[in-house]
Amino acid sequence: MSRNTFYITTPIYYPSDKLHIGHSYCTVATDTMARYKRMQGYDVMFLTGTDEHGQKIELKAKEAGVTPKQYVDNVVAGIKDLWKLMNISNDRFIRTTDDYHEESVKKIFKQLYDQGDIYKGTYKGKYCTPCESFWTESQLVDGKCPDCGREVVDAEEEAYFFRLSAYADKLVKYYEEHPDFVEPQSRLNEMINNFIKPGLEDLCVSRTSFTWGVPVEFDPKHVVYVWIDALSNYITALGYGNEKYHDYDKYWPADVHFVGKEIIRFHTIIWPAMLMALNLPLPKKVFGHGWLLLEGGKMSKSKGNVVDPVVLCERYGVDALRYFLLREFPFGSDGVFSNEALITRINADLANDLGNLVSRTVSMVEKYFGGTLPEAQQEGPEDAPLLEMANALRDRYEAQMEHYAFQNGLIETFKLISRANKYIDETAPWILAKDEANKPRLARVMYNLLESIRMAAVLLQPFMPDSCEKIFAQIGAPENLRTWDSAVKFGALDAQVTVHKGETLFPRIDLKKELALLEEAEAKARAATQESAKKEAPKHEEKLEGIAQIGIDDFSKVQLLVAQIKECEPVPKSDKLLRLMLDDGSGELRQVVSGIAKWYAPADLIGKKVIIVGNLKPVKLRGVLSNGMILAADCTADDVKVLFVDDAIPCGAKIH
Ligand code: ME8
Repeated sequence: MSRNTFYITTPIYYPSDKLHIGHSYCTVATDTMARYKRMQGYDVMFLTGTDEHGQKIELKAKEAGVTPKQYVDNVVAGIKDLWKLMNISNDRFIRTTDDYHEESVKKIFKQLYDQGDIYKGTYKGKYCTPCESFWTESQLVDGKCPDCGREVVDAEEEAYFFRLSAYADKLVKYYEEHPDFVEPQSRLNEMINNFIKPGLEDLCVSRTSFTWGVPVEFDPKHVVYVWIDALSNYITALGYGNEKYHDYDKYWPADVHFVGKEIIRFHTIIWPAMLMALNLPLPKKVFGHGWLLLEGGKMSKSKGNVVDPVVLCERYGVDALRYFLLREFPFGSDGVFSNEALITRINADLANDLGNLVSRTVSMVEKYFGGTLPEAQQEGPEDAPLLEMANALRDRYEAQMEHYAFQNGLIETFKLISRANKYIDETAPWILAKDEANKPRLARVMYNLLESIRMAAVLLQPFMPDSCEKIFAQIGAPENLRTWDSAVKFGALDAQVTVHKGETLFPRIDLKKELALLEEAEAKARAATQESAKKEAPKHEEKLEGIAQIGIDDFSKVQLLVAQIKECEPVPKSDKLLRLMLDDGSGELRQVVSGIAKWYAPADLIGKKVIIVGNLKPVKLRGVLSNGMILAADCTADDVKVLFVDDAIPCGAKIH
């Protein structure tokens, strides 16, 4: 009974770090919407994936000593495992390194070039490496990247440009004609005021300073700008420009792209302009959700305050976490995540209200009727308000869900759950049970409770699929009474229903104890991180034990030199690395990046003479070229000392 199609997407994630709870937020919301639409009878396409190209990934791979493909393969495997753990029901998973996607991106770029929407020019401006974003001077905020607040670097190179400026008027016209295109609508005003009104500039859409990307087919020293590559995923995953899939016509335009608020700009300006240039329809909606913050600010690996969704799922259960994410915060706004809020919410809504209602009801049916209700049932004066609320629920829930108001959809549903709990107090089944003559009334009370639970559980399925299945099993609701259609009218459950008591759905968590445990676990994790940092050093020892002896010929391949530290400063965005300029006797200063920032301040080092490995292949660390390595000793597990040498030894002296 397929009603229609519904195409929904998450952003494709950068496999640069482990994903945190903030990333899970969008994916859980998308999954819930996809499940909701499937329940309504839509033919749903739910797409997620990974955005694997770009300089950031190339650098990460270099740091890890692997190829970019090896690097992303490894991280992507972890991301897929996380989605499996979190019960994410995506229909497709796209990787921008997939051949079919790359083929389509090349075609898209070529078409835009052939028709004059892309042209060749010179890029001069600022570039934010972590965000892979180019900025003009006027767009910078305090001289820094307006998206992430980090340092930008000067960039100048031959590049291809997309004629974005030509689409400004068309975009504004489109927004005016489609006021629902962006939600929350305030976000669209931000786009118009901050980006379109000051004047849209053409967009630099190719790079030559790195190679990890989709090559421009007709000029292969250029790779396609990651955002052109990434945004295309929404159509290449349906088979646009490739033969891998064939459902572009079926699903495009997308019903909604869910994206975080910082990437709305890409989805409401660049992406629509690209589609206009390709003469393709625009997505029906871009929904920009808020960020999950921690008390100290935005979650990020670099802040060291990442909240690991795997740990949260293991501790509290997947469904409890899914519920919390969508119940606690309005989808369009930012919210502050805390373990305390999570536990409090689980205890109040899931353990007390929902879990208790199910367990009390099922226990009473077992206790008073041996598990199966009798046919003879008698209505009572307390029934009407409960039935009224249950009958109105689906419409009220739908009205919220259609606007992506997950929080309100849950609030509506939990009103019925609270009402049912109140109904227990009003009808006092334990008193009815005292008199055999009240059995028909008692049976009806039980029936009404089971039916209320069933109707609520139908609507909770998109949020907590596994728990709802357990609820249905406990209250004896067959498959055909778990559907959208079955939630429209009270009374579908068989009068002689049989219940099956099961495990506690949502065990209560002792807040104080749990917070103390978490603190302890965090302290342990911190200690473990320090321990593993120390182990960086013992790595050599471990290797040495297992390593074959080398001959003098091998040793002589290593060029050890004395050099003097002339300049030294921390590498931006790194708390481990220092950038040093060394006099190695060659007449030119040599740049070396060294992971000793934890033990030395620049002032401790300037003027000192050290030993360097002079013939190491150069590498980039955090984007800074390192041409050699400074020798240091692991003194204790957490103490490293640089080997300083006698000032009398001249710079450039060879060590044998
Ligand atoms: O932006 N709270 O990838 P990404 C809520 N590859 N959402 C958060 C969050 C937080 N604390 N942290 C991150 C990219 N996100 C691009 C997308 S789409 C064609 C390309 C959200 O891995 C963030 O807002 O950096 C974004 O929507 C998503 O995670 C992916 O972020």
